[in-house]
Amino acid sequence: MATGLVSKMLGVLSVLLIVASAGRLDEVARRGGFTAQTLKDWELRSRGLDERTTSQRRYYNDKTRDYFVESLPEIPQSFLTEMYSGLMPIDENDPSRALFFVFQPRIGDPVDEIVIWMNGGPGCSSLEGFLQETGYINWGWGQYAPEINAYGWPTLSNVLWVEQPVGTGFSIGTPNATNEEDIASDFVKFFKNFETLFGIEYYHIYVTGESYAGRYVPYSGCNP
Ligand SMILES: *[C@@H]1O[C@H](CO)[C@@H](O)[C@H](O)[C@H]1NC(C)=O
Repeated sequence: MATGLVSKMLGVLSVLLIVASAGRLDEVARRGGFTAQTLKDWELRSRGLDERTTSQRRYYNDKTRDYFVESLPEIPQSFLTEMYSGLMPIDENDPSRALFFVFQPRIGDPVDEIVIWMNGGPGCSSLEGFLQETGYINWGWGQYAPEINAYGWPTLSNVLWVEQPVGTGFSIGTPNATNEEDIASDFVKFFKNFETLFGIEYYHIYVTGESYAGRYVPYSGCNP
């Protein structure tokens, strides 16, 4: 008798739990899978973003248009500011060797300088830096949704993330570098083409990175 009552109560309880979780699933679906707090944060941040973003695109022209990033998968449009990405050849006469980059101009008053970011490895994608470390949009491991990184470097400067050397990430070509000089030489050729395209030859350049990039940075910085 007592056991019967307990099992009935458990039955009722489990029905209630199913109803409750179905209600919750409904709500989660309405929010597109994002948490209520995330949506609230987005709203606040995108309001702040509107104030900081000018509608002007400083680097957008006929030559750079093909690199312009209109949207990114799963990233709210309100997170996007002026941004360029794609493959830039190391040697303009050889499209088979090219480095993949993301360039995000400063969010705020323009500055005539560029900060280059390289992840290490060797062979680590600099998109790790872009999406989890120094970028303006953060989407780390185990993070349910992307968020604005208030400490992202583009709030201070024009930032360029580069996947290098050849063989890393989305960069293309057959790896043939055997030492740091070879790698730096490829990088500098790439960067000169980048400077020309974006018309920034007169900018101050800061070369930065982390981990194994402690080798890339000084070699690339010293390469004429
Ligand atoms: C790698 O290959 C490219 C294209 O053939 C060539 O220009 C470059 O000199 C090579 N680099 C090395 C270090 O052999």
